[in-house]
Parts: sequence; C-alpha cells; structure tokens
Amino acid sequence: MKNHFVFSGVDVTDIAKEYATPLYVMSYEILVERIRLLKKVFTEAYDHTRILYASKAFLTIGMVEIIKSEGLGMDVVSGGELYTGLKGGMDPENIFFHGNNKSPEELEFALEHRVGTIVVDNLNELSHLKELAAARGMRQKILLRLSPGLKAINTHAYIVTGQRDTKFGFQIDEILFEKTIPGILENPHLSLEGFHFHIGSQLFDGQSYIKAFEVIMKLIKELKETYDYLPGVLNLGGGFGIPYDDKTEPLDLEKLFKEIMKVISDEFEAIQAPRPQIIIEPGRWIAGPAGITLYTLGAIKTIKNTRTYVAVDGGMADNIRPALYKAEYAADVANKMGQEKSQVYTIAGRACESGDILIWDVLLPRVESGDLLVVYHTGAYNYAMANNYNRFPMPPVVLVREGKSQLMVKGQTYEDLVSRDLPL
Ligand code: LLP
Repeated sequence: MKNHFVFSGVDVTDIAKEYATPLYVMSYEILVERIRLLKKVFTEAYDHTRILYASKAFLTIGMVEIIKSEGLGMDVVSGGELYTGLKGGMDPENIFFHGNNKSPEELEFALEHRVGTIVVDNLNELSHLKELAAARGMRQKILLRLSPGLKAINTHAYIVTGQRDTKFGFQIDEILFEKTIPGILENPHLSLEGFHFHIGSQLFDGQSYIKAFEVIMKLIKELKETYDYLPGVLNLGGGFGIPYDDKTEPLDLEKLFKEIMKVISDEFEAIQAPRPQIIIEPGRWIAGPAGITLYTLGAIKTIKNTRTYVAVDGGMADNIRPALYKAEYAADVANKMGQEKSQVYTIAGRACESGDILIWDVLLPRVESGDLLVVYHTGAYNYAMANNYNRFPMPPVVLVREGKSQLMVKGQTYEDLVSRDLPL
C-alpha cells in the first residue's frame, strides 16, 4: 500500500495486524546480504579467514539455521547460547566458547559436546579446563583471550572491553610472568591455537584494532623467541559499528579490513612467520540493520511549551539500550511514509520508569493514537536483552522474506509469565 513501510516485500501494517505489536521483525534478505558482503570484503582483504557470528547479538534456533547455511561459525558466551547453537544444528567444531566466568558445568557441557575451541579468559578457567580435559583423556583446542590494555575510542564506556582495567581476559604481562604459556604448551590435553582480543563494540575505525594488534604482536615476538611458539590463529573479536541515526556514516568495511590486514601481513612477514588464520566475530554489524521493531502509538500528552510525549506499547522491556547506553534510534510512522515531517515528538515507553524513553525529539508527521511506529536497526541486542520488567510479555519475533512472514519466536502469554511461579 502507498505510504506504508515495506520490509522484505512485506507491508508492515499487515504483519502488525497479524501478530500484534510490539513486534520484532527480522529481514532474511538483509541478514544474508550482510553476511555475504562481509565474507566478500574480508576474504578479499586476506586469504586465510574465518567468520563467527557473535550470537549474543541475536540468537534463536532459526538464526542458527541461517548463519549455518551461510557458512559462518558461532561465538557463544554461555551454556544457554551453546545449547541454542547445538539445537539449531551448528557443527560443534564451528563453535567458539567465550565467557569471563564459565562455570565448571558449562565447561563440562562444552567438552561433552566437543565444542571446537574454548576461548580461555583466566587462570582459574585454565586450571579447571586442564583437569576436565585430562579426566576425559582429550585434547581441547583453546585460544587465550588477551587484554591489550587499550581503550577503544568513540564508544560507550559499558561496551569497551580492551582497556587494562577490565574483567575480560589475561593481562599480557601476567602471561609472561606467570609462565602460563609453557604450562599450556607442555600440557597434552590442551592445544594452544592462538590468541583472541576484543576491544569493544560499535567501533568505526581500524586504528583501535591495529593498535591492539600491535600490542599483541609484541607478545607474539617474545613468545617466538622464548618458546619458539607461533599462533596459528588470531581472533580480532567483533565490534564493527553500525549507524543508528541518519547522521552517522556507515563503516567502510572494505577500507577497514584492508588497513588491518595489511598491518597484520606485514608484521608476520617481518618476523618471517607464516600468517595466521584471522577470525572475526561480529554480531551487531550482521544482525542490527536486519531488524526493526513495530509499536502502536497510544497516549499522546502535550505539555505546554515543553514537549509532546507519545507513548508506545513497548519500551525498555523490549529495548533497554536507550535507558542503558543512551542509545539513539531513528523511526518513522510506518503508515504515513512520505508524509511531511512537521512535528517533534518524544517517544515514551510504557514501563513505570521515567528513564523509559525510547527516542527523544524525533521529527515525524503529525501522529494519532493507533498509528504504527517503526524503529530501525533493532536487530542486535534488542530481543537479546529483552526482559519482563513490569511483567510485560516478550514480543514475538517474525522473519520476513520475499513478501512473506513467519514466526521465529512465539510471543509470551500471561500464562508464560506465571508458568515458573510456584504458589506457597
Ligand atoms: N566478541 C566478543 C568477545 C564480545 O564481547 C562481543 C560483544 C562481540 C564479539 C560482538 O560485538 P559486536 O560485533 O556485536 O559489537 N549490549 C551491548 C553490546 C555489548 C557487546 C558485548 N560484546 C549493546 O547493546 O550495544
């Protein structure tokens, strides 16, 4: 229909009626297009690569099926993500298990299912893993997560991870002084494939990656000299940024990869060492722009000479990012596309919380209660971070593809909300 927002060939006003709002919608075409573009530019920049999808961004069994069919592996950070990956049919060899405090049960679970690689975060985990792998008489591939001791620039403090003062990974000096490396190299139950670092999320320039790599390269040189050890794998983590508003330029991935990979190739050439396999594990870049959220507009409240609040039927329970990170989103009125944008509104969520504002000051056509709001780029860390605050049931997730829609995740019912409660 004219003036309606269409996503993957689907008029979103139709699916809003069919599945009700709030509604998460993922586009199959956008997901697949982004995965293929990523593969293309990454492999053009370097010839020995592997891409893992950071499943924390958006994970359902259907999503596992999509990333598997596109040839990606998975990065998981919990037993729950691992379970979902296995249920979705991901080959365990293609699963990398992260986490800064994996429980003994989670490690057991991973070994039992022959997870390909465990990204070890700390000494406690290392000693646990040694015991567990020895008890099973197996040899487990591992990467060590390193903290390069750098602060990624231009992103929110809560999603920066690579600085020295961090809960993630080994400090490099710790590795050298604690004799961690020889302890691993001597151990018949562990196979040290290489190193991992992740410096933060929502990054827009190659410099942070390059600086972190250079710090790690110093360690690699020392390890080569001292133990004759060379990593076969380097995992650069994820973090590739996406624009959430229409002012930010999208990341030039081609330029970014060329820049980073050149430095890596040159450095390994300089020490006459074989170039390692380079792994990346993006989440947001793949899933973010593939998702939208639909809301129905409800109460409209104009406070004279101040602002007009328009409330939606969702909010921080389905998108906690504005409250948590001051994240900004772009939106349109899905049933009034193309109409002149003449009014500034503040989009309020419906949680009992003043901080539950989805968007401050967005320019829209004149709205009425009952209009349909589309919020863009909500495919990553929205459904994944959804919660039941105020006992709002979690919305369903619908996949749209070539003009058709299908449920990926059923919405919760009130019955679901009480299904684990026990009367006293
Ligand atoms: N690898 C590791 C080790 C990570 O810690 C993360 C994200 C990723 C990969 C994927 O990062 P991405 O490519 O998606 O930026 N909840 C926050 C984001 C937290 C990201 C944590 N780690 C948000 O909503 O912005």
